[in-house]
Amino acid sequence: MNASDGGDAWAGVDPDDAGAVVARALELHHPAIALASSFSMEDCILMDLLARRRKDARVFALDTGRLNPETYECAEAMGARCGLRVEWFFPQREPVEGLERGKGLFSFRESVENRRECCGIRKVEPLGRALAGLRAWITGLRRGQGVTRTDLRVVEPDAAHGGIAKISPLAGWTFDRVKAYVRDHKLPYNRLYDQGYTSIGCAPCTRALRPGEDERAGRWWWESPDHKECGLHLRPGP
Ligand code: ADX
Ligand code: SF4
Repeated sequence: MNASDGGDAWAGVDPDDAGAVVARALELHHPAIALASSFSMEDCILMDLLARRRKDARVFALDTGRLNPETYECAEAMGARCGLRVEWFFPQREPVEGLERGKGLFSFRESVENRRECCGIRKVEPLGRALAGLRAWITGLRRGQGVTRTDLRVVEPDAAHGGIAKISPLAGWTFDRVKAYVRDHKLPYNRLYDQGYTSIGCAPCTRALRPGEDERAGRWWWESPDHKECGLHLRPGP
């Protein structure tokens, strides 16, 4: 990697070597760095890579209150497997109560604005608290995940969060490579993958893929692909 990826600190690190990226990220930033884990296969791989290097590596998870039971099962299994402690963040009670009382439990299906409102309350605000005080965060994002992510870099400044470093060690991985790692290392995984899911978020906003659909077609399937970011990963346009 070079200066455009965050300066000389990354010199000599092969961006395709996720283990090397994780190792350098920890050297540079621990304990002011944490993995954001939704317990996707990608995030479980990153938990495995982190735990091999430091047992006190930091991981946080956003419990939106609408996750699938299979996601909680995977969280517990992966925590036990790798030994990392997960810092859970919950949305603030009052905005959730206000939303549910005012607009019902499925307002996010009515418009993109309503969907962003729910994601804002349940994900984006808690993410801001999770990132407070960090110099860098690690994500399981990949370029292959859709039109909003095709130009993702392994290390990039996160303008939406004060310019801290956003590190995505699996940016160049394919979904097949992800599945092969999980299989070869016998990692726990979310059982919804066995039912045809490829990208897993909140239960009411995620479904299994139909034949021929792309990886994130099962997320907010009623919206067009260029809207499919919940606000965790907003990036400047070209
Ligand atoms: S999302 O923005 O559409 O929800 P996606 O499910 O593709 O994101 O996940 C991409 C990355 O965002 C994950 O690999 C993880 O780093 C982070 N992420 C997504 N959801 C959560 C969550 N609930 N808690 C923590 N991190 C999350
Ligand atoms: Fe709300 Fe759906 Fe966003 Fe989850 S994914 S926070 S349920 S709109």
